[in-house]
Amino acid sequence: MVRIGQLLISLESREIQLDSESLRIGSRAFDILELLIRAQGTLVSKDEIMRRVWPDTVVEENNLQVHVAALRKALGADRDLIKTVPGRGYRLMLAHEEAPLQHETAAGLLPCASIMLPAGVSALIGRQTLVAQVLGGLNAGRVVTLVGAGGIGKTRVALEVAGQATMRFPDGVVFVPLASVSNARFALEALAGALGIKLPAGRLSSDLIAAEIAGRRVLIVLDNCEHVIDAAAEMARAMTAVNPALCVLATSREALRIQDEVLYHVPSLDVPPDASLGDEILQTSAVQLFLARARTIDPCFSSDERSIFLTGLVCRRLDGIPLAIELAAARAAVLGIEVLVDHLDECFRILTGGFRGVLPRHQTLKAMLDWSYRLLDDTERTLLRWLGVFLNGFSFDAACHMVAAHGFSQTEILDALGGLVSKSLVIHDSGTVPSRYRLLATTRAYALQQLEDNGERKAAALAHAAWPVLAHQRTSGSIL
Ligand SMILES: Nc1ncnc2c1ncn2[C@@H]1O[C@H](COP(=O)(O)OP(=O)(O)OP(=O)(O)O)[C@@H](O)[C@H]1O
Ligand SMILES: [Mg+2]
Repeated sequence: MVRIGQLLISLESREIQLDSESLRIGSRAFDILELLIRAQGTLVSKDEIMRRVWPDTVVEENNLQVHVAALRKALGADRDLIKTVPGRGYRLMLAHEEAPLQHETAAGLLPCASIMLPAGVSALIGRQTLVAQVLGGLNAGRVVTLVGAGGIGKTRVALEVAGQATMRFPDGVVFVPLASVSNARFALEALAGALGIKLPAGRLSSDLIAAEIAGRRVLIVLDNCEHVIDAAAEMARAMTAVNPALCVLATSREALRIQDEVLYHVPSLDVPPDASLGDEILQTSAVQLFLARARTIDPCFSSDERSIFLTGLVCRRLDGIPLAIELAAARAAVLGIEVLVDHLDECFRILTGGFRGVLPRHQTLKAMLDWSYRLLDDTERTLLRWLGVFLNGFSFDAACHMVAAHGFSQTEILDALGGLVSKSLVIHDSGTVPSRYRLLATTRAYALQQLEDNGERKAAALAHAAWPVLAHQRTSGSIL
């Protein structure tokens, strides 16, 4: 969220709030506002705005003036925060213009010479081994990527690693939140903005930014790269190519796929095995996260044996995904754990409304999965939906059988399945022959909901029912 005068602006969800009420402005006006915000107080020329906001059309200048007037109207008493620079363009006054953002360092004037990490992050639960491994990875490689499913905790681990790596990067640790960048065009601006580099947006390039910070011993955290993956990969490549002292730590639902990238898969938190009891349940990180979150809302959240048992069950059914666990804990604190367990099948209806201040993408389980689903191509989406019928995983043959009616070739299905695995929506259980795949329970529930919404549920159930018969007739031994 960015505050300008009385307005609270989310670049991620493109929403504006005034006194907790949503305020509507046109999408062009919002584009202009986003450009001005990303320019961090520097001039954005009229040409630049017109080129960026109307990329395929030549527009009259008064069009621009109309939209700027609409923005000023939305700002009300703070209308003067948008300054007209006569004959040139516009700039947004920063709230603290007189307080320079920069710090002097041995390496020169570097705006990011301190740790620029989001404040107010709650304590990390578990993950000690992974954090140590990733810190080690930053010694061995220059681009380290944390990959994993949505809400699994990639950003949280990256923040921990960045916080612990500050000694190694005396010129600073810079956090670049790409989730709020609406498209690849703005990724460079986000990076330049986070580094405090002030160049006209039209002149920005990865190489230019890399040259600006040459020689600086910096760790750059590119957070949530998946929706601007090509731009993020190019930025990481360019910055590390010319600067041997710079490292990039990226988080993404998909790998950057650049040379020498060191990948770490972020797994679910530990969940208690089926028959565990008491202390064994309490020692797992998923349960500890659940209880910590529930107790921030209800400090007396039940700790009797049955409640602990049910908490373990919920964490297991949510596959140890921290975001799902946080949403569930918030519900349980209000409704009681028994009610939550009874309604967990309707996870998309009940796992909504988490903690105040979190990203819109994290406010509901559905929004978290929508974000991944939107990034798929049509074949991947179809395959994901139809794979939702498999409760205990599936083989490649079973996947082909499910989407046979769609007329995809085997190569297309291979590509789509590979795409779903690399985008962390399908898990490949390595070590089995033939290979087996599965969906996390929440992803599966999402796929089934999508089948329903597309009117395909019945056809998928019929195709699924036909599969075991075929499987029996095969010698491959594929089982569902
Ligand atoms: N180990 C942990 N300890 C405490 N909180 C955690 C932990 N892991 C994750 N969380 C919390 O769970 C939520 C989701 O985590 P996070 O944002 O890191 O997920 P993500 O993998 O980056 O998701 P996305 O793919 O949507 O960006 C956050 O509120 C985060 O603070
Ligand atoms: Mg993240």
